[in-house]
Amino acid sequence: MATPATIALITGANKGIGFETARQLGKRGIHVIIGARDAQRGADAVKKLTAEGISAASLVLEVTDETSVLAAVKEVERRHGHLDILINNAGILDYAADTGPATTTVAHFRKSFETNFFGLVSVTQAFLPLLRKSPAGRIVNLSSILGSIAEHADRNSPIYLKNFPAYDTSKAAVNLYTVELAQALADTPIKVNGVHPGWVKTEMGGEAAPMEIVDGAKSSVAAATIGPDGPTGGFFHMGVHMRW
Ligand SMILES: NC(=O)c1ccc[n+]([C@@H]2O[C@H](COP(=O)([O-])OP(=O)(O)OC[C@H]3O[C@@H](n4cnc5c(N)ncnc54)[C@H](OP(=O)(O)O)[C@@H]3O)[C@@H](O)[C@H]2O)c1
Repeated sequence: MATPATIALITGANKGIGFETARQLGKRGIHVIIGARDAQRGADAVKKLTAEGISAASLVLEVTDETSVLAAVKEVERRHGHLDILINNAGILDYAADTGPATTTVAHFRKSFETNFFGLVSVTQAFLPLLRKSPAGRIVNLSSILGSIAEHADRNSPIYLKNFPAYDTSKAAVNLYTVELAQALADTPIKVNGVHPGWVKTEMGGEAAPMEIVDGAKSSVAAATIGPDGPTGGFFHMGVHMRW
């Protein structure tokens, strides 16, 4: 059981896997900050969580806007002075635009990278000083099996030829950043891990997805709450190591 002083920020937490991750962390006694690019959607999410007895607050955070990111850091510093858990959950996938490696436009590659990769790097770097003030900082990067080069190259993989190249490459970039950041922070208490939530019934995952949201949040929660002897620089799905 976490102490009440444990503070977690989840980006893109007004709905989907991010919201459920906040709920599950909140149920463990962690104070959850709902990062939402729209203030009203953030406030609505907090209302639902507080109705369940969870300690929650919202924060406007548009991950592609540096001004928004820096303002969010200032606000968390003002409220808490530190951050224990950062979950880089915000992400986009546009199936209609991500048509294939020969056809997805460069503009769409850029758009996907802005949120899924550059946004994640920007938020991570900006919050690092507050995470360094935690006795046990945790960074969780939402990747995807679709970001795994090993899976894409394997004819027997369930994602073989399932190509959304702008999304896939942005998540592959997240994977390598996760490894390098974990190495850079190896002499600190901060642990950095990537997770594949599974194919989950959210707005992004769609109705055909086999996993319910409650299970889709479990990999993020596990990585956010690993103990001091837990792994860093890994890529996990429901407790199992994913191939890069
Ligand atoms: N669902 C799956 O099957 C699946 C599988 C593998 C990986 N993932 C990953 O899991 C994460 C969560 O996915 P999900 O299925 O829960 O998606 P979702 O239901 O579409 O929710 C995405 C969240 O990200 C927010 N967001 C998008 N762009 C943002 C930006 N620029 N700044 C701040 N917030 C932004 C959205 O805010 P708005 O409500 O304002 O749009 C929303 O809160 C993503 O990183 C995704 O790539 C999902």
